[in-house]
Amino acid sequence: MKVCVIGSGGREHTLVWKLAQSASVDSVYALPGSQAMADVATCVALDWQNFDEVVAFLQKEHIELVVIGPEAPLVAGLADVVRAAGIAVFGPSKAAAQLEGSKVFAKDLMKKYNIPTAAYGVFSDVNKANAFIDETGAPIVIKADGLAAGKGVVVAMTVAEAKAAVADMLSANRFGDAGHTVVIEEFMAGEEASLLAFVDGTTVVPMISSQDHKRIFDGDKGPNTGGMGTYAPAPVMTKDLLDEAYHTILVPMVQAMKAEGMPYVGCLYAGLMITPEGPKVVEFNARFGDPETQVVLPLLASDLGQIMLACATGQLTADMVSWQAGSAACVILASKGYPETSHKGDVIEGDLQFTDNTLIFHSGTSFNNGHFETAGGRVLGIVGLGKDLQSALDVAYGRVRNVRFEGCQYRKDIGQKAFAHLV
Ligand code: AMP
Ligand code: GLY
Repeated sequence: MKVCVIGSGGREHTLVWKLAQSASVDSVYALPGSQAMADVATCVALDWQNFDEVVAFLQKEHIELVVIGPEAPLVAGLADVVRAAGIAVFGPSKAAAQLEGSKVFAKDLMKKYNIPTAAYGVFSDVNKANAFIDETGAPIVIKADGLAAGKGVVVAMTVAEAKAAVADMLSANRFGDAGHTVVIEEFMAGEEASLLAFVDGTTVVPMISSQDHKRIFDGDKGPNTGGMGTYAPAPVMTKDLLDEAYHTILVPMVQAMKAEGMPYVGCLYAGLMITPEGPKVVEFNARFGDPETQVVLPLLASDLGQIMLACATGQLTADMVSWQAGSAACVILASKGYPETSHKGDVIEGDLQFTDNTLIFHSGTSFNNGHFETAGGRVLGIVGLGKDLQSALDVAYGRVRNVRFEGCQYRKDIGQKAFAHLV
């Protein structure tokens, strides 16, 4: 089978790497891809926003399966256009991608179908929003409705901070259209975990759990980022909690989407808070997590191409998905200034080759004059594999210490929360 992955980041690097290993896959294309993918995929210099050109390319090359990595093309409806051209797609329709594209849509659906999540209100009026904040008190969470690249959420520790966030989004127009409506929700205390699942419209097969590290600094300090590191599996997600999340969150949401006439196909990402009352939804994403993918897919023992095609054609079964024993840990190296800004053009020194137990996925690099340079906020995801989490972390940090670029930032405490569950 010929497969084409849409996207160019670390998640997509992982997807093309894993698809290239699949027995069901003969060749992998990446659109646009990146230089780092060139040894496993043919990169195609096209812009996904030009739907007609993308479809013409897919037809000319007889691509049989398209895998859409990032949220923007999903929310813009690329899956619908490719599907209409008769090509199988792993990724939700524009309608189903609202689960990520609109917080109001996701919250209203969870409420309608009794899926556990934080209590909330929806506001476009500053005075009404402020009255709700006064009533509820702090801590409280303010979220821009639309896509804001992970930056549209403020966890306010005081009422004043919450009102400032509302003013910023509703009056100062900080996120443009994405922020004309805000969701204000109850603060949930607990530990977070990510649970991704393969979905074919009806059947849901969960992947192994993982945990992201969203803040820029050690000890979960500083501003939110796209994610500074991950590990899998996450021991906070015990067998019982996984069962509970499957039955109270994943299955009801997939049934809800079907009942609403927008069946969900692709990777469903549930961001969970493990509260004293059980797992509750922090957010849904309509795609693989980045950098969750970098630790989850290396532990997949079965054929990713076969699973994705089965999702795209409504034929997924649980026996298609099996996992290797052991753990994976990913440390993100970010460029100078991230997350407020990023820095391009810093030369990356050190060995970036894959080995049996280390994988180096490129999130934001460019290749110039024979070397890789920084080209984004998150630059590299360095993954270690091991028989347990400690050995995976040792292997990952061993490689991290041998990669250098000006202004490189990384967290030194990836995975540490897991050990509280492992004693
Ligand atoms: P989101 O973009 O919705 O995932 O939110 C970003 C981050 O804000 C999450 O990963 C949580 O750490 C935090 N967060 C979001 N909603 C809540 C909530 N209701 N209670 C506590 N923390 C939250
Ligand atoms: N790592 C968080 C996300 O992909 O949304």
